[in-house]
Amino acid sequence: MSDNTQDLIAQLRAIVGDAGLVTDADAQAPYLKDWLGKWQGRVTVVVRPADTAQTAEVVRLCHITHTPIVAQGGNTGMSGGGTPDDSGAQVILSTTRMNRIREVDPLNNTMTVDAGVILANAQQAAREADRYFPLSLGAEGSCTVGGNLATNAGGIAVLRFGNMRELALGLEVVLPDGRIWNGLRGLRKDNTGYDLRDLFIGSEGTLGVITGAVLKLFAQPHARATAWVGADTLEQLVELLARTRARCGERLVAFEMMSAASLALVLQHVADTRAPLAQPAAFNALIELADTEDGGLQAMLEDVLGQALEDGLVNDAMFCASQAQSAALWKLREGISQAQVRAGKVVKHDIALPISSLAAFTQAADAAIAGEDIPAEIINFGHLGDGNLHFNVMIPLSSTYEEVKHATAVFNRLVHDMVARMNGSISAEHGVGQLRRDELRHYKQPLEMELMLRIKQAFDPNLIMNPGKLL
Ligand code: FAD
Ligand code: MLT
Ligand code: ZN
Repeated sequence: MSDNTQDLIAQLRAIVGDAGLVTDADAQAPYLKDWLGKWQGRVTVVVRPADTAQTAEVVRLCHITHTPIVAQGGNTGMSGGGTPDDSGAQVILSTTRMNRIREVDPLNNTMTVDAGVILANAQQAAREADRYFPLSLGAEGSCTVGGNLATNAGGIAVLRFGNMRELALGLEVVLPDGRIWNGLRGLRKDNTGYDLRDLFIGSEGTLGVITGAVLKLFAQPHARATAWVGADTLEQLVELLARTRARCGERLVAFEMMSAASLALVLQHVADTRAPLAQPAAFNALIELADTEDGGLQAMLEDVLGQALEDGLVNDAMFCASQAQSAALWKLREGISQAQVRAGKVVKHDIALPISSLAAFTQAADAAIAGEDIPAEIINFGHLGDGNLHFNVMIPLSSTYEEVKHATAVFNRLVHDMVARMNGSISAEHGVGQLRRDELRHYKQPLEMELMLRIKQAFDPNLIMNPGKLL
């Protein structure tokens, strides 16, 4: 270890103490590899400040010493944004010790939290005040509010409540020079110039370290109705989505889609799961309605789906009679990520399209992939109600490094060119990180890239915040 490195670690220790430093190789290991196991890096040290003031001091020191910082929350990101490079010169700034619920304000319907609060704990704090924080995703037991903000996370309730950008009212951010921007305002209206908050949301740690946030709360939904349906085509599910929306309005909170292959993968690789329908369906949907009180929610869902059955729009439906049944269905949906990791090598795509184009895209992409001379199975699932497909392509577990590289290049180009032609996005909710950085340059308009680079330059002229990610 060089004198400079030893010096940096000593100065960091003076700021955060022994409890705030991770120097041991074994203890560092979980911070250095991402959840998918795709990226692995090295660091000088992992630093875990206890609060905003310590974070500001750490960042100021890194600013002075030109030390690159990778902010990290729960390390559940899907695009490699929170993994350091392999130079060993970067520092991971982990927010996991900053985990206080600072305030719940039921009159303003807001909650102010540290950025390192685990999403499930934020949901729980809202519940304890008889309020609801709606962001919900498979990683909610370990991802953090700061990571959700930095990736503008989506999940299963975007259809009704919006993604993280729509759920945040204010932010506190440590800027790349160590100054603290206090934007912790819980205002619903504030037209006093450029929206700095929205610049940090989705910035993936490239503009500053988010240390706190004011989040919107909603009324607690005390009643829910959940059902699973099977259909022959994606068009049919898109039509069902439109009907359900028209009939149920704001009560429709989730409309998730799983192809037969996605469901089969979960049934094979996730314990304690069973098929919900007697006959497998080409396309499945998990539909949930919610309301503050039960005004015939179940009857409404049965009515919409009963009509769809009668019209031949769906083949079969299963209605949940208990919380346990609903949990079992959600386990099938949320088990897909884990099942894919267990099953093999996956070329992931997280795309957004107008909902009306999803069926045409799927048909065309299915055919184009089948036309390639690469053995592949399509694992198509996602947030149908948001026009967001996880259109993943699984290749054999035995594929070599070179085969994976080739398949990734071929399928990414094929899928993303098609998405671009159909006016979609190549990253709907997982961000850019390292995964899509090079492709972004190809698909984003040059003017948009130029403006983003100028924003980066204005905030972080020394380029110390998460270098090599996003831009
Ligand atoms: P990390 O992985 O630690 O970091 C992600 C990025 O944010 C990195 O670029 C990092 O540098 C930056 N960052 C983290 N904290 C801060 C901070 N305080 N300030 C500045 N930058 C920061 N995503 C969805 O959108 N929808 C889903 O449905 C969904 N489901 C998932 C299911 C599973 C099983 C898993 C593993 C992931 C899923 N994700 C989903 C991915 C999702 O992006 C993350 O789970 C979550 O938003 C990231 O939070 P994190 O705290 O783990 O962030
Ligand atoms: C999901 O919706 O389950 C996710 O975003 C995770 C994934 O794509 O694996
Ligand atoms: Zn998703």
